[in-house]
Amino acid sequence: MGCKIIGCGKALPERRVTNDELASLVDTSDEWIVSRTGIRERRIAVGETATDLGVMAARRALGAEEGGWRSDAAEAVDPASIDLIVCMTISGDTVVPSQAAMLKAALGLPSAVAFDLNAACAGCVYGMDVASQMLELSAAEQRAAAAEGRPPRRNPLRRALVVGTERLTRLVDWTDRATCVLFGDGAGAVVLEWREGEPGVLSSFLRNTDDLDGVLAVGNAFDMTTFPFGGPVEAAGAHSAAMARFGDRAVATLGEAPAEGGEGGASPFIVMDGPAVFKFASNAMAEAACAVLERAGLAIDDVKCIVPHQANERIIKYAAKKLGVGLDRFQVSLASVGNTSASSVLMALADAYLAGRIEPGDAVMLVGFGGGLTSGALLYRA
Ligand code: COA
Repeated sequence: MGCKIIGCGKALPERRVTNDELASLVDTSDEWIVSRTGIRERRIAVGETATDLGVMAARRALGAEEGGWRSDAAEAVDPASIDLIVCMTISGDTVVPSQAAMLKAALGLPSAVAFDLNAACAGCVYGMDVASQMLELSAAEQRAAAAEGRPPRRNPLRRALVVGTERLTRLVDWTDRATCVLFGDGAGAVVLEWREGEPGVLSSFLRNTDDLDGVLAVGNAFDMTTFPFGGPVEAAGAHSAAMARFGDRAVATLGEAPAEGGEGGASPFIVMDGPAVFKFASNAMAEAACAVLERAGLAIDDVKCIVPHQANERIIKYAAKKLGVGLDRFQVSLASVGNTSASSVLMALADAYLAGRIEPGDAVMLVGFGGGLTSGALLYRA
């Protein structure tokens, strides 16, 4: 309750790459990609960093730059009023500083506390849930502090910037046709504001399903060339899940010799069992959507716009069929951008606002899934 989206924006890199251009790199075709995924082209960050893209999306959401949606278009948000930045990414420019800290500095937000969140492609849903819960808790603490005549015991948080930014195409093996046709780069951002007494987030649902078969993984690209303390790490227990299918490729490190009997060589690239992810995603989307509806006491027909993770149009169609609603209720933006992981839902949300699909008072559902395996949904009243 009380947590409102007051601004939304997205940013894309300049370079457009069509399916036909990909067909000149790997053995694929426009027909195969469109019929299996719905993707026609994607943007690739060549000159832009993840920070550049995140800054552009955030400035649009804040109203500091044209091209975003704002509930009060007349006034830009004062940078000093942003108390929190949560950035969702798996392809940030640096590990330290966090991507959120880089955005804070680049945007000139003096008061914000900043941290990153990795929930892979479900990042937007997780990030929105975490940020909105922090604002709600802060409001409760401020009310209690005022009632008891004492200072708040936690950071007062009233406005949050939630940003997804990805240069995912740096994690793609451009010789692997099964994955390279799916992904793209971009950023999406929203400004959340706590408004006491107004409806806002109605319900949320988050789930992590153990990826016991290692259906989706990206290894850490550690450089081990100066590491003097021994050979490949023996992964154990749950940690070995990603190795079950992909051997040492998923969790080994750059410069490290392959484990004995291993497939050889570390991979910093996305490795994926497409059909298994497809099956998980289709069911997980429907499960998360039903859960938030039940928790909010709403029916699917009460929801004006559903904004799903933009991985594959067939997955979205499957979810629509399971939920018993037409595809026209979903914001489908993937044809021109592909799967932009933790940016995708906020980018599509910006499209929905800019197209006038969301009016004040409408119920809106965000729903996502990703590696981990993560899934979740968030229902809010605009
Ligand atoms: N172009 C042409 N052929 C391709 C291809 C490409 N880009 N990629 C794979 N193929 C081939 C395969 O090699 C296979 O050939 P074979 O039958 O001779 O072995 C055939 O197409 C079918 O492959 P398959 O993987 O079964 O296809 P699919 O219908 O399941 O579609 C995906 C593949 C990846 C599009 C689909 O599984 C998918 O979208 N999965 C979800 C992925 C996802 O969303 N990941 C991100 C999660 S956040």
